[in-house]
Amino acid sequence: MTFDWQKIKAEFPIFNSQPELVFLDNASTTQKPLTVLDAERNFYLEANANVHRGVYEIAEKADQIYESVRSKVAAWIGAEAEEIVFVKNATEGANLLAAGMSEILKKGNSVVVTELEHHANYIPWQQAAKKAGAEFRVIGIDKESGDNGVGGDGSGNLDLNNLEEKIDAKCKVVAITMMSNVTGAQPDLTRIIARAKAVGAIVVLDAAQAAVHLKLEVKKLEADAIFFTGHKLYGPMGTGILYMKKNLAEKISPLLFGGGMVKELPDQWLNIPHKFEAGTPNVAGLAGLGAAIDFLSGIDRVAALEHEKNLVKLARKGLTEIVGVKLLGDEASSIISFTMEGIHPHDIASILAGEKVCIRAGHHCAKPLMNSLGLTACARVSFALYNSEQDVEKLIAAVKKARSIFK
Ligand SMILES: Cc1ncc(COP(=O)(O)O)c(C=O)c1O
Repeated sequence: MTFDWQKIKAEFPIFNSQPELVFLDNASTTQKPLTVLDAERNFYLEANANVHRGVYEIAEKADQIYESVRSKVAAWIGAEAEEIVFVKNATEGANLLAAGMSEILKKGNSVVVTELEHHANYIPWQQAAKKAGAEFRVIGIDKESGDNGVGGDGSGNLDLNNLEEKIDAKCKVVAITMMSNVTGAQPDLTRIIARAKAVGAIVVLDAAQAAVHLKLEVKKLEADAIFFTGHKLYGPMGTGILYMKKNLAEKISPLLFGGGMVKELPDQWLNIPHKFEAGTPNVAGLAGLGAAIDFLSGIDRVAALEHEKNLVKLARKGLTEIVGVKLLGDEASSIISFTMEGIHPHDIASILAGEKVCIRAGHHCAKPLMNSLGLTACARVSFALYNSEQDVEKLIAAVKKARSIFK
């Protein structure tokens, strides 16, 4: 099936004003379609009032927008509206969960994460374990026999040989990414979740990278909590979603205290999800997030992913032909990370920036993974549905230029 990327790209104003822009840093944040920008602007033009407080017409309109986005997100991922908590990003979602769980965890319990995690799904759990006196365990990546330095099957995926020992009866939380932001690896969730459930641990999924590419079906996944961020979904910055199963949400204390979450003082909070939403929320941003979900619902996401995978294949082929390039991960994702002999990744990114090709270089907030791979940094190219073969051609030409400068 052909995917009409040109028609879709035309919906993104930044590419109309900067047609030369080759944006390949989509794992970091995506560009926004006009409908998202309009929804944010229209909130301020037509309904700007605080939520849950006013009785006048525009306040009621603001409330209606706020709660309708909650219902929209819930329907999009197959959850109940009360299971959806608005947070400012994925990081806040992880912190809310980990801080809440740190009061439930006990000495002698353990918390399990993986080496693939972004710091947002690593450090909060490390801190929670420390606070509770629980053990912090890390499932490592499979480093055996891979020719690209990231694993036996070449995907940069996890070593699950000792899964039963890592996730044993002491384990109360398994927090794991659905998709690595460095290698694009997708852990075997079915196996890991089944093991976590067998020992009675709660399962937390970081969907920050996955949400835009995969269809999230929270009930099928059998996770207790999932978080993701709006700005990687073609939505606004400052918006994020934390899904929690009702029984977990009811057990956990709020992270923030203040207005909009009190039933009675002391210590009686409103029902879920409102007990987690102290303070004035980003209603305009959430209106934009609602529009982003409409945008995603209006396209053929399977065809979009296929389009991105074709570009990944093409880019991997082109990069492999350049002397000294070493690719990380496999073809199954929209992310390509790589190193290049004799050039620091930051130099690659700077030379590409000079050619209007935007990529990311660094440790990608995934130091445990970088340490395990023996790297301090790598360059990362990440695709979205508005990218094209022309973008790949410009990328390859720019990397060749970098090669010719650093011979
Ligand atoms: C896998 C993963 N988790 C969490 C995050 C954190 O997202 P945010 O900065 O929006 O909180 C990112 C961002 O890059 C990510 O890639």
